[in-house]
Amino acid sequence: MAAGIDDISIYIPRLYLDAADFAKARGLDPGKLERGLGIGQMAIVDTNQDPACLAANACLKVMQKNKLTPDKIGRLYVATESSFDESKAMNSYVIGMLEQVYGKDTFGHCGGIECKFACVSGSYALYDNTNWIRAGEAEDKYALVVVSDIAKYDLGSSGEVTQGAGAVAMLLNNTPRLLSFDPKVTSTSIKNEYDFYRPFGKETPIVHGQYSNLLYLIQVKNALIDYKKKVKETGLIKLKEGETILDHVDYLNMHLPYSNMGKKALAYLVRHEWRTLPRWKEIIDEVGMEEPIPKDPRGTIESVLEDADFMAKDHQFTKLFTNTEKYVELYESKLASSLIASKMIGNLYTASLYLGFRSSLEFEYQKGVDLNGKRVGFCSYGSGASAMIFSGVIQPEYAQIVKDMNLEEELGPRTKLSLDEYEELHENKRTHEENIRSANKEFVIVDVKTSNESKGERHYAFVD
Ligand code: HMG
Repeated sequence: MAAGIDDISIYIPRLYLDAADFAKARGLDPGKLERGLGIGQMAIVDTNQDPACLAANACLKVMQKNKLTPDKIGRLYVATESSFDESKAMNSYVIGMLEQVYGKDTFGHCGGIECKFACVSGSYALYDNTNWIRAGEAEDKYALVVVSDIAKYDLGSSGEVTQGAGAVAMLLNNTPRLLSFDPKVTSTSIKNEYDFYRPFGKETPIVHGQYSNLLYLIQVKNALIDYKKKVKETGLIKLKEGETILDHVDYLNMHLPYSNMGKKALAYLVRHEWRTLPRWKEIIDEVGMEEPIPKDPRGTIESVLEDADFMAKDHQFTKLFTNTEKYVELYESKLASSLIASKMIGNLYTASLYLGFRSSLEFEYQKGVDLNGKRVGFCSYGSGASAMIFSGVIQPEYAQIVKDMNLEEELGPRTKLSLDEYEELHENKRTHEENIRSANKEFVIVDVKTSNESKGERHYAFVD
């Protein structure tokens, strides 16, 4: 049975921090943010917003757009790493909010959980719900999978430039108008790692930035190796002599903690794939240097990062490689459009990959490309660490959905924060009632209980 994404909606908070202002305040060269990391603006939540509000707002959008009543939704899953309760699942809060609009107990029949594995958990949630549909258990109902996060790092830390917030809600069914997932090829890798983690009670993560970059690349490559094996075994793609699987994937969406990480990941995977193909000789001739090898090729991530000579040469090689004609063509056609939204919004953790997918659809459609039948590959990564690679094919009805996508309009008029306002929000110096923007047709927090018997109880309202 087919299963995939029928429609997709986003909700992005309207406050933002401008990367150039941020660079100035932190004494950084704005070029590092703009060109080095690919960051333009970071979406920031107001005092009366949390990841559950963001998720509920995205769900409401996709339901209203499709005129869906709750009886049509069989499962509602939330994937997040911005959880605020160790026990009560975030989807219960989301259902509580949606029932304020649709009526008490209208979601009573619906199942679902909150999923956690850093940024990759949304992909596991999609996979599980796709299989619920494939197993024939959906009884003509949709699964609603929403990925929602607030990416928040310590003030003054190297991760602070890679913040953002937002949610993406995806409606899944067995007659998807947007994208049908390829069966039996979803591939994963997993390893116990401490590249990025957030211990109980801590609002911001502990991060080993450069380690996390390299681990991301390695884990995604490992998942790709498994994906290739499955694609060959299932006969999904038949490779001719001298071809790589990437030649048959029209679009690649990467997990985007910052938009240039997508560029880094694409270059790494393409090098891995092309290195054994006849075309590599031509590439090396154009690059004008051999691909460097670490002193200890079987070493650890730490030993590779400490190998300064290798790191410098590899950096140089990557720069030259990514300027080759063949690579530029691949980058422009398969990845570039997916990075546009990330640059304007920042890191959404679980939602970053899917914001990228949405961005790619909108901006490729605007170029006039016929997307029908195009294969889309997804490279998902979550710290801690696990990667997942899967793919799907864009469906003939896609234009019904994509023609109305308009990121600028959806972001709406945004409010630029001053550095002082941003730091006040970051350090939780304002109460939830001291919001900066007035809410408009959205869910917001109206109360968080502090008494011993009901500590942490959250109450929300829909502001019309
Ligand atoms: P950093 O060390 O401050 O930056 O931290 P850098 O020195 O690596 O510079 C970044 C880039 O800017 C480099 O380019 C520089 O050359 C360039 P690259 O070598 O990569 O091509 N640059 C400049 N370019 C132009 N003009 C200039 C200039 N100066 C430098 N003047 C880091 C960067 C990402 C490590 C940091 O921001 C961080 O720790 N971020 C948080 C962790 C993170 O995002 N990791 C990504 C991989 S792990 C992941 O994706 C999982 C995650 O989403 C969590 C989850 O799964 O839940 C984070």
